[in-house]
Amino acid sequence: MKEIILNHPMIRHKISILRNEKTSTKEFRELISEIAMVLCYEALRDAKEEEYDVKTPIMATKGTKVNEDNYAFVPILRAGLGMVDGVLKVMPNAKIGHIGLYRNEETLEPVRYYCKLPKNIEKKQVILLDPMLATGGSGSAAISMLKQDGVKDIKFLSIIAAPSGIKKIKKDHPDVQIYCAQLDEKLNDVGYIMPGLGDAGDRIFGTK
Ligand code: PRP
Ligand code: URA
Repeated sequence: MKEIILNHPMIRHKISILRNEKTSTKEFRELISEIAMVLCYEALRDAKEEEYDVKTPIMATKGTKVNEDNYAFVPILRAGLGMVDGVLKVMPNAKIGHIGLYRNEETLEPVRYYCKLPKNIEKKQVILLDPMLATGGSGSAAISMLKQDGVKDIKFLSIIAAPSGIKKIKKDHPDVQIYCAQLDEKLNDVGYIMPGLGDAGDRIFGTK
């Protein structure tokens, strides 16, 4: 499945502000949330619609609705939490699960520390959230955890991805559609995306 990359001048404009090391925590959070909202609209482009009757002040017509019960958002802690506000603007009634993973700084291997998913998750489409897709280790491990719980329909939303991360998700989970706002060049020798935006979790939560 080919990854979908938002190719839009205003998204590049906003990602350039995210990249700037001088951008405040407040503005960083707001932009992560806004770009997540745009990614979510894109990911729901194929959502199933049901018709219903609507009466406008002028005449009777048909409206459509999407059954929000069929969806769940799952942020990968911590940085994925920064995307939750934005996606909830698109679908405010979706359920939310949490997967806790961090990268071991030496091996870059993901370490699991938390998993709490909504009930009946296996019947829902799960939209997994993580702003950074670097080696792809965390994303791939999170998808495996969802699949272990029976989830069959998964989409992965990231703000910045490196080619290595996309390659790993596509190899480990070819059924998962990836959406990203910007594709960057490569990783540096300690696994950070170049040019990237630094450590997304630290910048969202102001921890460094
Ligand atoms: C970051 C990021 C991803 C992961 C990406 O999390 O939010 O989860 O690294 O790297 P990968 O593709 O190489 O696995 P981090 O481990 O820094 O944890 P945090 O969100 O708690 O800061
Ligand atoms: N995690 C981040 O937060 N940033 C990167 O560049 C890579 C992994």
